[in-house]
Amino acid sequence: MEFPERFSNLPEYTWPRMRALLDPHTPGGEVVNLTIGEPNHAFPDFLARKIDERVASFGDYPNNYGTPELLGAIAGWIQRRYGVAMAEDQIMALNGTREGLFSAAIALSPETKNGARTRILLPNPFYPVYMIAALSAGADPLYMAATADTGHLPDLDALDAETLDRTTIFYLCSPSNPQGAVASREYWKRLLDLAEQHDFIIFSDECYSEIWRDTPPIGGLEMVQEFGPDPERVFIFHSLSKRSNLPGFRSGFVAGGKKGMAEIRQLRAYAGAPLPGPLQHASISVWEDEAHVDASRERYRDKFDIADRILGSVPGYASPPAGFFLWLPVADGADAALKVWRETGVRVLPGAYLARDVDGVNPGTGYIRVALVADEPELERGLTELRDCIYT
Ligand SMILES: Cc1ncc(COP(=O)(O)O)c(C=O)c1O
Repeated sequence: MEFPERFSNLPEYTWPRMRALLDPHTPGGEVVNLTIGEPNHAFPDFLARKIDERVASFGDYPNNYGTPELLGAIAGWIQRRYGVAMAEDQIMALNGTREGLFSAAIALSPETKNGARTRILLPNPFYPVYMIAALSAGADPLYMAATADTGHLPDLDALDAETLDRTTIFYLCSPSNPQGAVASREYWKRLLDLAEQHDFIIFSDECYSEIWRDTPPIGGLEMVQEFGPDPERVFIFHSLSKRSNLPGFRSGFVAGGKKGMAEIRQLRAYAGAPLPGPLQHASISVWEDEAHVDASRERYRDKFDIADRILGSVPGYASPPAGFFLWLPVADGADAALKVWRETGVRVLPGAYLARDVDGVNPGTGYIRVALVADEPELERGLTELRDCIYT
């Protein structure tokens, strides 16, 4: 029995790899976990009541694409947030963005393009589902270094015409995980121009869009409205996981051009796992409520202030405009994560575990990722111990 060759030389997934590095060692103090991007702030208190209102519909197969009421609530949110009108058939409910970022590539990336094997472009470092989606769609992933030198986003001018002519999908993550970089209007304009010239699609992963410090990040649909490319060029992915502190609830959406959405919906009809009815119903109220999102954002602002105060004098420290991660420069991320774990009990993620080696270089090697998810006093203690252990 053989297994698919395209998955045969994958690196171990981020979390088992991190556990293998840290868990054989005893933590040097009380544990502060700053690894996983799992928000700990309060989710809306009406959630259980809303699920309960429709609990009977656990007895029915759920609506595949999202109920009209849910799609209407999401359309309302897109209109309020981005000023863009979307019809119901331009939106589909997801079990969080991850499954959509995966399945949409399978639905939309053709087998060949211009007579050649296709390429799917992704940032490096990156959220791992982009890579597995590209491989599953039968495309060659191209890992584009997103470093301090390129503003922590892929350098669009580094792409040659031959690559672009084979490209079917470009994954853009803005605000980015892990660096918290936000694509500017100019960046979007350049990307949309390339997409038009070379006929590819942009998958805009916007799951951190609501966690920002001064200015709400630009979204892909706004840019389509402003610059007027083919409306099939951009698909946005959002979720309640980070916005509403509901990573275990599994609720999100994809929205974009009608033709592409018809393909994505059809794949869901054949193979997808739709969001359970009571969760679809409860999601409506969550998308309609901004008070809990504002409160959570305020807390992240305070956490970034704590981080700036404690780490501000670290050479190369950059306070990101959005997201809830610090991407801290160190000599070697795995060495630093191990040292801080063994000496203090603070748990952080080596940056290389979020990136791939390209030509022997891993753009995450000289970093650790720190998630600002712990409560403020714990975070304060964790960051202080981290600083004293690594940077003094
Ligand atoms: C960049 C990015 N995209 C997508 C996801 C998936 O989130 P979810 O499936 O919970 O919406 C995550 C989760 O950590 C992420 O960091």
